[in-house]
Amino acid sequence: MNFNSAAAAVLVVGISAMVISKVGDILVPETRFTYEAAAEASRDSAEAADPVQKAPSEPSVSEALANADVAKGQKLVQSKCKSCHSWNKGGRNGTGPNLYGVVGRKKGAVDGYSYSSAMKSAGTDWTYESLYEFLKRPSAVVKGTKMAYRLRKYQQRADVIAFLRTLSDSPLPLPEIKPKNDGDEQTGGAADRKSD
Ligand code: HEC
Repeated sequence: MNFNSAAAAVLVVGISAMVISKVGDILVPETRFTYEAAAEASRDSAEAADPVQKAPSEPSVSEALANADVAKGQKLVQSKCKSCHSWNKGGRNGTGPNLYGVVGRKKGAVDGYSYSSAMKSAGTDWTYESLYEFLKRPSAVVKGTKMAYRLRKYQQRADVIAFLRTLSDSPLPLPEIKPKNDGDEQTGGAADRKSD
């Protein structure tokens, strides 16, 4: 190998290294960008699929109750509320109070259960509306409540409320069907918030 071909070889190696590192520079950020974009896109579509994020399309409690299924509600209560609540008449309080007769009952009224001061001093009754909002986000209805469990799907909340309604010696009549944008939407929740 003479000097020239050695120099040429060094040059070729050098240029290849440069080209490789440039290509790397271009590829790496591009790859990261693609992953991030993909993650973002999937987050966006997950949010779009969550009914809570699309509040305007959520029906009023009366509309949701009109399509509610008591048997499904019972299954939901069994699977999602049982760890903290009993619901048989005279049943024991657990982490949360017994739920027999809760629809139409005064908030925080079960004897022998140690409520948060927020719930104890709420002062209003549980209505269909306030339960619908409470189960979606308890603290939005009773600020300072110690119940943190949330049921995001409105039809599940309606199913649960339809079942809770049956836990009574004289169940309240079902509400008259009113669409959400009737001017008096969320009366239960709003009234509850004022009284907090
Ligand atoms: C991890 C425990 C936990 C789970 C799960 C839970 N809750 Fe509760 N719940 C509580 C606690 C604690 C309270 C008392 C809140 C307070 O005193 O602020 C409560 C209170 C309530 C109240 C108010 C009762 C009253 O006497 O005023 C209702 C209604 C209620 N829960 C319904 C439900 C339903 C329906 C489910 C299932 C979908 C559920 N909860 C799941 C812990 C739970």
